[in-house]
Amino acid sequence: MANSRRRIAAFALILITACAPTATPPTAAPIATATRAATATLRAILAPTPANSLRALASNRNLLIGAAVMPEYIRREPIYAQTLAREFSALTAENHFKFGPLRPTQTTFKFDEADYLVEFAQSNGMRIRGHTLVWHNSLPDWLTKGNFSRDALSKILNEHIATVAGRYRGRIYAWDVVNEAIAEDGSLRDTIWRRGLGNDYLDQVFRWTQEADPNAKLIYNDFGGEGLGRKSDAIFNLVKGMKERGIPIDGVGLQMHIRVDEAPAKLQELDANIKRLSALNLDVHITELDVRVTLPATDASLAKQAQVYSQIAQTCIANANCKMFVMWGFTDKHSWIPQFFPGFGAGLVFDDAYQPKAAYIALRDALAGK
Ligand code: XIL
Repeated sequence: MANSRRRIAAFALILITACAPTATPPTAAPIATATRAATATLRAILAPTPANSLRALASNRNLLIGAAVMPEYIRREPIYAQTLAREFSALTAENHFKFGPLRPTQTTFKFDEADYLVEFAQSNGMRIRGHTLVWHNSLPDWLTKGNFSRDALSKILNEHIATVAGRYRGRIYAWDVVNEAIAEDGSLRDTIWRRGLGNDYLDQVFRWTQEADPNAKLIYNDFGGEGLGRKSDAIFNLVKGMKERGIPIDGVGLQMHIRVDEAPAKLQELDANIKRLSALNLDVHITELDVRVTLPATDASLAKQAQVYSQIAQTCIANANCKMFVMWGFTDKHSWIPQFFPGFGAGLVFDDAYQPKAAYIALRDALAGK
């Protein structure tokens, strides 16, 4: 044990030395990026992975457990990188695989942050969820204000998928090929992509993604379709139709941004929904779970939240096709909730100081079968 630690430490030194900038770097940027990546990676590798970490317990159940992440925190906060690598077997880029960040102009792609996350994940034995290829948000102005013809839009998206999914071919466990294509009333959302490619655009883009990365699981991802109802029926019918037409779709992502007090009613429905999707031979991923509470959080609301985390995990574990359990972040210090849902927050399993909350313990116990 001590020996292998020494070996890892020696390897760390070699890697840091190998990646350190030399006096005459060929180009400054790539080497600086490599150094940062190596250093963060090592911090993570050197952290212990206890047998009762979330990832160890989930792995016993054949379940991947993940979190959405931001590269700047991996670089800036050692405890962020350590906690991530210790507790999770998968990650999703919170923003850096989206169209806007990846494609600042029509003719240029910017991959450094996405590459950094892929490297971090691989160095730490983590799977990657690619999020997302086709979405109506996070699009650059050059695209939305470009007045492109239908043909041009189709070409841009085809090229985007081929380039992005192609670059990471073989390294992405699952792609959220399409995000949020169904509106609240169950109709197909009116988006730039639908207008450009036509009503059958999902069929098209799933085929393109399969060509670019034949081994990735191809997922349809959405919010508000976790339980039963108009929207989840529409999602069910959409993916059922795709399966019937032989479109390469492997699963459905349930985002699950929920409020602590709306959760209990939906648990039975969540189970029923996972079961009907499983019956189509589709995998189900919980992709963006957070359980927000009214701020300031109280002991009571956090205890309730812990219960909700536990129940959702148990529901996932009870269904063999529920293969991934991913939260939209892991520390309350860095969560999208306070900004996007004013008055709410504290939705994740570690607090602002990276201390495990009651929700963490409850999730861990659920994974351990306690
Ligand atoms: C959010 C990010 O968390 C924010 O940082 C960003 O400003 C906007 O997007 N559903 C999704 C995610 O599929 O991509 C969104 O992420 C949250 C809702």
